[in-house]
Amino acid sequence: MEKLCLRNSVSLMTMVVIVLLPRCTLSTTSTYSRPEKLYVNCGSDSNVTYGNRTFVGDMISGGNSVSFTKKGTEAINQSGSGIYEMVRIFTSPSSYKFQLDSVGLHFVRLHFSAVSSRTQLLAARFTISATSHLKSFSLQNFNETPRVEEFLLMIDSPEFEIRFVPDHSSMAFVNAIEVFSAPDDLEIPSDSDKNLHTVYRLNVGGKKITPENDTLGRTWSLDDDFLYEKDSARNINSTQKPNYESGTVTQFTAPDFVYQTAKTMNHSSNEGVVEGMLMNVTWSFKVKSSSRHFIRVHFCDIKSESQNPDSDFYLYVNGQSRLDVKPSE
Ligand SMILES: *[C@@H]1O[C@H](CO)[C@@H](O)[C@H](O)[C@H]1NC(C)=O
Ligand SMILES: *[C@@H]1O[C@H](CO)[C@@H](O)[C@H](O)[C@H]1NC(C)=O
Ligand SMILES: *[C@@H]1O[C@H](CO)[C@@H](O)[C@H](O)[C@H]1NC(C)=O
Ligand SMILES: *[C@@H]1O[C@H](CO)[C@@H](O)[C@H](O)[C@H]1NC(C)=O
Ligand SMILES: *[C@@H]1O[C@H](CO)[C@@H](O)[C@H](O)[C@H]1NC(C)=O
Ligand SMILES: *[C@@H]1O[C@H](CO)[C@@H](O)[C@H](O)[C@H]1NC(C)=O
Ligand SMILES: *[C@@H]1O[C@H](CO)[C@@H](O)[C@H](O)[C@H]1NC(C)=O
Repeated sequence: MEKLCLRNSVSLMTMVVIVLLPRCTLSTTSTYSRPEKLYVNCGSDSNVTYGNRTFVGDMISGGNSVSFTKKGTEAINQSGSGIYEMVRIFTSPSSYKFQLDSVGLHFVRLHFSAVSSRTQLLAARFTISATSHLKSFSLQNFNETPRVEEFLLMIDSPEFEIRFVPDHSSMAFVNAIEVFSAPDDLEIPSDSDKNLHTVYRLNVGGKKITPENDTLGRTWSLDDDFLYEKDSARNINSTQKPNYESGTVTQFTAPDFVYQTAKTMNHSSNEGVVEGMLMNVTWSFKVKSSSRHFIRVHFCDIKSESQNPDSDFYLYVNGQSRLDVKPSE
């Protein structure tokens, strides 16, 4: 269990907890807009729009930018919709191969939905791995659907391959795959591992943000379920667009919606707190203790305009590392 705690006031915007994968090399691109490809509608001979991008059926994807193992695979129509209608099933080790336009930082998203009448899908157990530093990891339990696994990988070869290996007497499947280059400013500014697997991405104090409303197709979930003391904070929001200053944050760091909502201390819940004890708001996350985690916390001061800028506070992670936050600066 990892705890994120704000002591003595104000607004935490959003946080992302990401598992680090092993490191690798990097390259750069310049001005960014989200590419129109590669988005694959697996198991299908038709195109589908999802998150404002066209997912091309893997049976019609022309050219050689996407190919897959055909032997031992099967496409089925399940009662899902959009990219979750069709599913490609693998009964033996198989892969999708992508021919990329560039190397460098890429989003890789895998979509899984097992709403099918085939119970084998719900019970599927398989391993996924990829060239360029996606260490193999196992997947099972598809009761919660759709399920999306997202990676931010530093890809160093234009030939990118994702492998699906079913466990003994089981099967592997996938509904859709996204592989597209990411803006460089999402890169982790350190010498540590630059390959990430998203664990949590939360929009604090607001609504769930779906891929349609995020230029990079990300999903931002609600933070409420992670709040340690439900009463300790309340939601605030602003209709003003964030004022991006040149520097580290750009329009791609997070959608405007993320910066327009926040949580702030609920002072009335702290009336009984012993004098001298600092107030806090704490979020608590289940994580793998064997993994290193990258935490990105976003702050945008939407509170000070209307109230006293009493907003200096400390950010603690697991009660240890402390950061002095001055959101008005
Ligand atoms: C599917 O989308 C691709 C890429 O946008 C396009 O080239 C192709 O013509 C489309 N195919 C169909 C059947 O709509
Ligand atoms: C959807 O994608 C098109 C083409 O990339 C873009 O021009 C448009 O702004 C996008 N719409 C939204 C709501 O993101
Ligand atoms: C899948 O099945 C549904 C219902 O039977 C049908 O309406 C739909 O057209 C099918 N989709 C494809 C891509 O075959
Ligand atoms: C902003 O706050 C108002 C009043 O509390 C609330 O009705 C509204 O739903 C909030 N908007 C968002 C986007 O959270
Ligand atoms: C997402 O976008 C839709 C359409 O552009 C809009 O109606 C909706 O309010 C947006 N939702 C959020 C949470 O941003
Ligand atoms: C703030 O705290 C008070 C007292 O504990 C509680 O009644 C109220 O529901 C809390 N507000 C929120 C938004 O949680
Ligand atoms: C946070 O505040 C609660 C009281 O609301 C207290 O029980 C808890 O020990 C505090 N946690 C930290 C890390 O200060």
